[in-house]
Amino acid sequence: MTNTLTINADQGTQTIDPHIYGHFAEHLGRCIYEGFWVGEDSDIPNTRGIRNDVVEALKRLNIPNLRWPGGCFGDEYHWKDGVGPREGRASIVNTHWGSVTENNHFGTHEFFDLCELLGAAPYICGNVGSGTVQEMSEWVEYCTHTGPSPMADWRARNGRKEPWELPFFGVGNESWGCGGNMRPEYYADEYRRYQTYVRHYGGNKIFKIACGANSADYEWTEVLMRRAGGHMDGLSLHFYTIPGVWKKKGSATQFDQAEYFATLQNALKMEEFIQRHGGIMDRYDPKKRVALIVDEWGTWFDVEPGTNPGFLYQQNTLRDALVAGLTLNIFNAHCDRVRMANIAQTVNVLQAMILTDGAKMILTPTYHVFEMWKVHQGATMLPLHLWSEDYAHEDKQIPAWSASASKDGAGRIHLTVCHTNPSQSATLSTQLRGVKAASVSGRIMTADALNTHNTFDNAEALAPRELNEGEARLEGERLTLTLPPASVAVFTLETGA
Ligand code: AHR
Repeated sequence: MTNTLTINADQGTQTIDPHIYGHFAEHLGRCIYEGFWVGEDSDIPNTRGIRNDVVEALKRLNIPNLRWPGGCFGDEYHWKDGVGPREGRASIVNTHWGSVTENNHFGTHEFFDLCELLGAAPYICGNVGSGTVQEMSEWVEYCTHTGPSPMADWRARNGRKEPWELPFFGVGNESWGCGGNMRPEYYADEYRRYQTYVRHYGGNKIFKIACGANSADYEWTEVLMRRAGGHMDGLSLHFYTIPGVWKKKGSATQFDQAEYFATLQNALKMEEFIQRHGGIMDRYDPKKRVALIVDEWGTWFDVEPGTNPGFLYQQNTLRDALVAGLTLNIFNAHCDRVRMANIAQTVNVLQAMILTDGAKMILTPTYHVFEMWKVHQGATMLPLHLWSEDYAHEDKQIPAWSASASKDGAGRIHLTVCHTNPSQSATLSTQLRGVKAASVSGRIMTADALNTHNTFDNAEALAPRELNEGEARLEGERLTLTLPPASVAVFTLETGA
């Protein structure tokens, strides 16, 4: 049978929230320090201590929001250690991540400065696990109160008179695990208490995000929605794609087809998690007021040999590109409920956009997927019907194709596609319903080997290329796509609308 896709170009009703394309930066390994922060005296070109090359590269993704300071680090972070003159800031031990000394040189002011440089909305995750209600409440006052107030006055003495805009605030992280090992009933009550003092000062309206479930923990979602749903704007979900088991996850670069298959099969579980958590949310919140915020997702492999096991530094291959493309297509399809997501993590940690080595920087295949997929940000999601043959490995199967389409403000239609089968090229016959397309253009990213990745010696081993002859043919209402094995692609249809 032929693979067929129908794009219902006249039936879109939902907007794909740009925040689905969000990022996460934790005080972990070389993400904040070296990845973003090099200090004002560094030889690496920087703006007020923040490296310019990384900011410029991320700006090309239209990065909508940045989550900080953790992760697990967040529930041990005491924000007052990270404000005021840097030489006077207290040092702490980062117990979660390598037990390294954290000198707190990157704190609240530096984070907001980074967000302003990126043009990204700040998303702060507050400390419930080891912090107090007062500490959380004063952090919000410090950031957003116009003054006079004790915290606003302190902020002004530290060099920032005007309040910042703080649109997103998380009340704890993984409170079922590193954030305090709480039961859902206990956390639900704690959430209600802490969030009470996360105030809206002046014109700053905070979107409050409760800590949500780990992967398939549906009881957590049930209890949180029942006991605290009315007090939250968003409920999070964390899910990492691991080909093996936690103790032996598998190498980021040395893998066979069985591990490639297992990785994509696991990544596709995101669909089921969103449907089932979303189903529970629907019972308590049928109007979908509360957003599902997938604020940690991505691949998690064994660290690169020879690197600190606590730093979670991993390489990033064509396989990661497929995981990113498949996941973003799933988020788009559920954009009525999934209104924000944050891949873990932006630089040098887990499924990163960017890897650095001192002054050197490379872009990963995952970066390129975010760049290709950014066309969907803020566009209207178009309902699809996809019939896909299977990509089978041994006795297991996953769909060979995944697709997502949207219509932007100028009437252009964007289509992102993943072709998972690594053994053969294939054709997807696409019918464009409800629109007349005048032309098609596009880009494809693929490579001969599944483990192709960019290195500091070969930074362009994997990057999108223009279409080759015959890869996209537009004839009337029919668009015929022929994609290489294991590839991701973006197509734009000009409609003249
Ligand atoms: O992203 C790495 C860690 O994974 C985060 O700190 C934590 O929230 C999760 O377990």
